[in-house]
Amino acid sequence: MNKVTKAIIPAGGLGTRVLPASKAIPKEMLQIVDKPAIQYIVEEAVAAGITDILVITNRGKSIIEDHFDKSYELECLLEAKGKTGPLEEIRKISDLASMCYIRQKEAKGLGHAIMCAKTFAAGDPVAILYGDDVIIGEDPAIGQLCRAYEKYGRGVVGVKEVSEEAIQKYSSLQVENIEGNVYKVTDMIEKPSKDEIMSLFSILGRCVLPYDIFEILENTAPGAGNEIQLTDAMKTLARRDTMVAVDFTGTRYDMGNKLGIMQANCEVALKHPEIGGDFRQYILELAEKIK
Ligand code: UTP
Repeated sequence: MNKVTKAIIPAGGLGTRVLPASKAIPKEMLQIVDKPAIQYIVEEAVAAGITDILVITNRGKSIIEDHFDKSYELECLLEAKGKTGPLEEIRKISDLASMCYIRQKEAKGLGHAIMCAKTFAAGDPVAILYGDDVIIGEDPAIGQLCRAYEKYGRGVVGVKEVSEEAIQKYSSLQVENIEGNVYKVTDMIEKPSKDEIMSLFSILGRCVLPYDIFEILENTAPGAGNEIQLTDAMKTLARRDTMVAVDFTGTRYDMGNKLGIMQANCEVALKHPEIGGDFRQYILELAEKIK
């Protein structure tokens, strides 16, 4: 099985759940302490051996391109002032990977966004990292999925068990354990009602899919919300017995909702080398006050 080297980051959604913050700033550019969410995601992909990344954007999201581009003026300024630390940080961002961008002209759903990447994939399997799901851990989550793709030769979804209440907002998977944290996926359902829940395993922001997904998506009718749903296309792969799930390690933060953004900022700030100590002190004092 070929090594997975290409990744797609869909970032063309409207981010209505985090308005007004996402009115002029893409939600994928909202920060976790001192870095935009999408930089954590690109760094995760690069750490997993991905070399080529396509970001799906739309009108008004060109600051994503600026962020990963070279910034001559800023570099010259930092160099002149002898600020070598920030200079290195800035330079690293534009050297992370070979980045390219395509605009999804209308936000017609995640499946539609992925279809825009067909020419980029050019016959190869693709890793998909949702632009608003940040996963932080020792072993990059997408790397765990790429290894499973290379081992089992099947599409792979990253899953975690969630609460019965949460699963009704996500997807639910029918699974059989293969070994350790790897499961065979036999069916799935998007946003199940209580009696449609297949298991508490839900797809959370990462997958590695074979090139076949593009043909399946082209034949997938609009589903929930009249959008082309990636889950509907993945269901076809599951029913063909060509899909596995990996219960990945790492902490996932949903940057697509307000509580998720605050949880990400708090937890990352507590471990941050520059402000971690002071922030912890502040949180302890605050906790005393609100007890
Ligand atoms: P979401 O469904 O969470 O994003 O998609 P959304 O549509 O922006 O969310 P709300 O409900 O309006 O707040 C997960 C990822 O897929 C991208 C989003 O940008 C996000 O990173 N996406 C979604 C697209 O690229 N295109 C779309 O048409 C929809």
